[in-house]
Amino acid sequence: MPIAPMTNAVGIDLGTSTIKLISENYQYRIPSLIGTPNPGWQGMSSDKSWLNNLIIEDSKGQEVYIGELARLQSEIRKPLASEGKMKSIDNSLLALKAILSLIMKSSYEQFVVATGVPIATGVEESKKLSRGLKGTHEIKVRNDATGEAKQMKILIEQVFIAPEPYGTYWHSLKTSGVQTAVDSIIVDVGHGTTDILCMYKGNMMRAASGSIEEAVDSLTNALSRAIQEKSGKIIRPFDLMTAIEQGKNNILVGGKALDIGKAMDQAVGSIADVIVDESNRLLNNLPPDAWIEKVIVCGGGAYVFGDYLKAAFFEANIVKNKEEVIMPKNAVMSNALGFEQIALTKLKKQ
Ligand SMILES: Nc1ncnc2c1ncn2[C@@H]1O[C@H](COP(=O)(O)OP(=O)(O)OP(=O)(O)O)[C@@H](O)[C@H]1O
Ligand SMILES: [Mg+2]
Repeated sequence: MPIAPMTNAVGIDLGTSTIKLISENYQYRIPSLIGTPNPGWQGMSSDKSWLNNLIIEDSKGQEVYIGELARLQSEIRKPLASEGKMKSIDNSLLALKAILSLIMKSSYEQFVVATGVPIATGVEESKKLSRGLKGTHEIKVRNDATGEAKQMKILIEQVFIAPEPYGTYWHSLKTSGVQTAVDSIIVDVGHGTTDILCMYKGNMMRAASGSIEEAVDSLTNALSRAIQEKSGKIIRPFDLMTAIEQGKNNILVGGKALDIGKAMDQAVGSIADVIVDESNRLLNNLPPDAWIEKVIVCGGGAYVFGDYLKAAFFEANIVKNKEEVIMPKNAVMSNALGFEQIALTKLKKQ
């Protein structure tokens, strides 16, 4: 039976704190980290998944830890992006190849890749990433927990790169059934940065887009400071993330329950104000005939800041009613979902 070569459409969101990848039924999220190897006892770990035990060989034949494995086990960890832009193209390429290996069903496969990068990433860097991705690659990966090694070859036929929030813009247009381009602002509240992208007549407006450091991370930092002032106890910002994700107002500090509801409201309000102020400032760079019909709020921060942002965008007169501020159903994956749809479109045109 002849087997026709199949090309996979892949959507990626290469964020400053996590990388998201979507292809058909596969959905992955891994920390945007690579790290030095730090071998331990094999077979002892309870989690034997490839996703959390991913090692890849670099061009010099040296092993590099990727994602969760790097976060937990590497002594030296390097973020793939920070301050709103990509840091090392080579490292990003390595991480991308490693996660592509997760969706391979055979030892040779073809891909069309559409990926979002942080908004402040320069044109040169994007071109370099695109050049680096296109073509044939040998991939050698190993599972740290089981020791299993795999070798494969991939051909990346086409690459599309755009600022991350463009994925959500595309996704929202497709899912709402709107065919015409609507002037809109996409506000992606992530962990370490909030990216703001302005769309005018279907074009991404560079002068009216940018990124700021106020995001979920600023909220956990503010809460951690407030808790320390109140109780004298130190709670690391990172440890507050779960409480925030679960919407908990009461947390346990030094064995005593502490109500963080008020501190939370205050911090969320002031961070949301900064985000709206910055959006307002960026909007000044749009042509006068631009008419913002939609504000699309996405990223994990949409869950915490969504309601405040809705009210604040309305109060700042950026939208005429609150219903014009929308949130995609899956605000964390919406960029990657949109990029997958873009990759599918490119694939059909082939
Ligand atoms: N359901 C949720 N409710 C509240 N907060 C959430 C939820 N899901 C994720 N978050 C928070 O959102 C943040 C992650 O969001 P997201 O995945 O959009 O960030 P990121 O893309 O990795 O970061 P960046 O855009 O800065 O690179 C985390 O800080 C997480 O705690
Ligand atoms: Mg993000």
